[in-house]
Amino acid sequence: SGLKTGGVFTPTKDDFQKVYNDVAELLENNEYDDGSYGPVVVRLGWHASGTYDKDTKTGGSNGATMRFAPESDHGANAGLKTARDLLEGIKQKHHWITYSDLWTLAAVAAIQEMGGPKIPWRPGRKDGDVSACTPDGRLPDASKDQKHIRAIFYRMGFNDQEIVALSGAHALGRCHTDRSGFDGPWTFSPTMLTNDYYKLLLEEKWSWKKWNGPKQFEDVSTKSLMMLPTDMALIKDKEFRKHVERYAKDNDLFFKDFADAFGRLLELGVPFEKEEKFIFKSTSD
Ligand code: HEM
Repeated sequence: SGLKTGGVFTPTKDDFQKVYNDVAELLENNEYDDGSYGPVVVRLGWHASGTYDKDTKTGGSNGATMRFAPESDHGANAGLKTARDLLEGIKQKHHWITYSDLWTLAAVAAIQEMGGPKIPWRPGRKDGDVSACTPDGRLPDASKDQKHIRAIFYRMGFNDQEIVALSGAHALGRCHTDRSGFDGPWTFSPTMLTNDYYKLLLEEKWSWKKWNGPKQFEDVSTKSLMMLPTDMALIKDKEFRKHVERYAKDNDLFFKDFADAFGRLLELGVPFEKEEKFIFKSTSD
């Protein structure tokens, strides 16, 4: 466990593994959604990080500025209070961890606990104040097309292959009418990370859902799954589609590329002092 030098607590890998274990224990809950807080915790880590702008070097997970209005009230962040509140208990137990390290570590734990790949992670984020909140509009708008997707993710520094790899996270979780306005899950097993998102995109027939909500797609055969306009853009666009086809065929390749891109996402803009990364033990190891 961590060393106390002159009253300053220096956490070790074991201390972070304890945080991982406590997060893992909180995730399963049969009263919530599909039985796990994992998906909304992944979304918290992504939205905390995806505000990064490589040109101005602003935004990103460093700072954990989503704790503050106006960022907490940005439309894209609707519903993420659930994840922030869930993790507050862990912060109270392990006072020494920053919110920004906690949220990203929790997202790594959620991916691993939902059967996904190991995501190498390192500490070093510092919490900021309200002045570091990013302006609204940095996160993607699901009603838009491939041009918008590229503008948003290129601003973070990702390429087409990485955009498609990251999007596979939509194998997890669901849309909520009281958060984004959209409704339903993308896959039949929304608490397990697999390449099903890509398979379903290519293999199912999708048509516009007939309802009063925002424009979204439903699968013709069961009408129980959904795709956002931005999800469908990944098979309409030739460059994106190429990668959807690769990942649909090869889950190992998806896991490898997802781990690389998601790990990088969580580190965008963070001025780390140390190189060393930790690979956490999963509960099932
Ligand atoms: C959920 C949009 C990329 C992970 C959602 C929701 C929307 C959305 C509208 C539903 C929110 C709700 O109603 O609860 C988008 C768009 C993207 C994108 C437009 C890019 C074009 C990503 C990426 C990741 C991600 C890169 C992670 C790597 C998730 C997860 C959920 C989710 C795990 C489920 C949350 C839950 O079940 O509560 N996304 N997303 N998304 N997104 Fe994305």
